[in-house]
Amino acid sequence: MNRNYPHTRLRRTRASNWSRAMHRETILTPADLIWPLFVTEGSGVEDPVAALPGVSRWSTDGIAACAKQAVSLGIPCIALFPNTPAGKRSDNGAEALNPDNLMCRAIKAIRDACGEDIGILTDVALDPYTTHGQDGLVDAAGYVTNDDTVAVLVDQALNQAEAGADIIAPSDMMDGRVKAIRMALEMADRPNVQIMAYAAKYASAFYGPFREAVGSGDRLVGDKKTYQMDPANADEALAEIALDIEEGADSVMVKPGLAYLDIIWRAKQAFNVPVFAYQVSGEYALIEAGAAAGVGDRDALMMEKLLAFKRAGCSGILTYHAPLAARLLGA
Ligand code: PBG
Repeated sequence: MNRNYPHTRLRRTRASNWSRAMHRETILTPADLIWPLFVTEGSGVEDPVAALPGVSRWSTDGIAACAKQAVSLGIPCIALFPNTPAGKRSDNGAEALNPDNLMCRAIKAIRDACGEDIGILTDVALDPYTTHGQDGLVDAAGYVTNDDTVAVLVDQALNQAEAGADIIAPSDMMDGRVKAIRMALEMADRPNVQIMAYAAKYASAFYGPFREAVGSGDRLVGDKKTYQMDPANADEALAEIALDIEEGADSVMVKPGLAYLDIIWRAKQAFNVPVFAYQVSGEYALIEAGAAAGVGDRDALMMEKLLAFKRAGCSGILTYHAPLAARLLGA
């Protein structure tokens, strides 16, 4: 094809609002959004997260209210993260297996409030439950062991599924955990519980505000580089994604988001499966801080970044901006 000026003027289709709308290639809708929420003990509690302006930890009644709000905004799914009380954290994170833990009570509160009108995604990893803040079990040398951890994660996943979770999202990056969870769900006669694997999760500097929100930041001993990925690697991310699909994941996630658009793009091209991005806490905080510092209009900065994920091939985006974006999109 040989398109030459002046027969071709690409500005022609950009000249009016209606024409720009007609030629728009990528569209963001509230159905593309997954809203991460932080749960805390108590009732009637809203506890703002200092590092995430506009984001709070809610007691389970507030979580149920947020879920109702999500339904009315057209947001199809929420993701839950507990801030476990200090007294319930332990070396082995046993509270993760308690059928009456904060997470399970939040799931039930949402189900009572919203029925089947919303999807509930739950995070599988031990960091909100351990005293050391690592995602798994730690041996005497401080190493997070793989196979022992997987055994616990399977029980954690079953506990969440039993409470009513729709999507199990392992964020721990242990080898083999998707297969183990999938087999356990089959055995437990829960064949329709989905797995969204945090397939390519990087050892990122952008998780700081999240760790404050769930109370694991100050506790964290060491780093997570023996299980989360090196930000320098892309081929390895594709290997991670391929394995998780083979092991029984229904969808895969790339995390963080914007700094890893190439991974999203390559994953979509290579496997043509549903790919989700997690626009993580540090990314959210940067947009808010940038807008507050006068870099640009907050809503416009937010929408441009969310759109980038769709353009790169995402089926959806986990974002703390979900309610704000949904409101703007619905307006
Ligand atoms: C825990 C987990 C983390 C996030 C989601 N699940 C933090 C971590 O791995 O340390 C980060 C999310 C965010 O920063 O918004 N396994």
